[in-house]
Amino acid sequence: MNATTTAPPGAAPAPSEVRSAQYDAFHAARARTDLVARLYAEAMGEDYPVEVAASSSCDWPLLGLLAARLRMRPGRLLVDAGCGAGGIGLWLARALAVRLDGFDLSPVAAAQATARRAHFLGPAADRAVFRVAELENTGLPDGCAHGIVCVDAFGRAADRGAALHELGRVLAPGGRLMVTRALRRGADPAWHEAVAAAGMTQEHVDERPSEPAMWERVYRLWVAHADQLRHELGEAPAENMLREAHQMLPKLRGRRAVLLTLRRLPEDPAAPAAVDRMAGPGRQTGDGHAPGERTPQ
Ligand SMILES: C[S@@+](CC[C@H](N)C(=O)[O-])C[C@H]1O[C@@H](n2cnc3c(N)ncnc32)[C@H](O)[C@@H]1O
Repeated sequence: MNATTTAPPGAAPAPSEVRSAQYDAFHAARARTDLVARLYAEAMGEDYPVEVAASSSCDWPLLGLLAARLRMRPGRLLVDAGCGAGGIGLWLARALAVRLDGFDLSPVAAAQATARRAHFLGPAADRAVFRVAELENTGLPDGCAHGIVCVDAFGRAADRGAALHELGRVLAPGGRLMVTRALRRGADPAWHEAVAAAGMTQEHVDERPSEPAMWERVYRLWVAHADQLRHELGEAPAENMLREAHQMLPKLRGRRAVLLTLRRLPEDPAAPAAVDRMAGPGRQTGDGHAPGERTPQ
């Protein structure tokens, strides 16, 4: 997923109860069959992290970047914002030995994530909690998290400025927010001002150049399996997915996928800044601009 439940570009966002019910329907339908996971796996090939089974562009390279860029210490709190069925946050919580608070607009997704805790964390399952909350109103205390990941969910916030401000509020000084974004090639960003207004700086921009082609494979597979999707997921969730596929396929060529690392300023300005050892040729670093916001994702 998918923007299976998003409004068309330019349309007013549906009220949160309506969006929540739509996401509930998708997550419930997805859990009834492994068809959607199989189609993602086919589209991503060996880059598909089977255990994580995300509803998003999450592949092994993205998981690697999240783990490396977060630079978290064991025992600290990671937040998975718009966590869906929780696989990304749980995988990171296990890999980094951190505590996890995941939240999602969808109660069904939060319940699914809760049910997966023991698989990832075994006897330490209660190191993770999942809740129903919104990006614009997380219910978390100020400065509680040293890391936040938000994979393919930020673009769904009804008010992105409010969501950015809220996630910045939740970050501890020096903590990092990692957010996937789909941008329009060559468009001019309003991003830097919004990041600064939320008390953060942009530390890295990691390009994800193979992502648009991956989405093209995903969408073509959905279209090719339309009848099977209707049969196994039900009419409404399948139609939402197919609508998204038809809307997005013509737009993918102009799409630029990035992973942004935003950092809350450390309290001690003399603290050494992290060095971008991962920046390489053709990769933009924190000084670069991330041109313009793009569409719904
Ligand atoms: C594309 S899915 C990604 C889920 C998960 N991050 C992953 O990568 O598997 C987007 C998720 O964002 C959630 N969502 C949408 N709008 C939200 C909001 N305003 N606040 C919190 N969660 C939201 C949806 O319920 C859905 O689970």
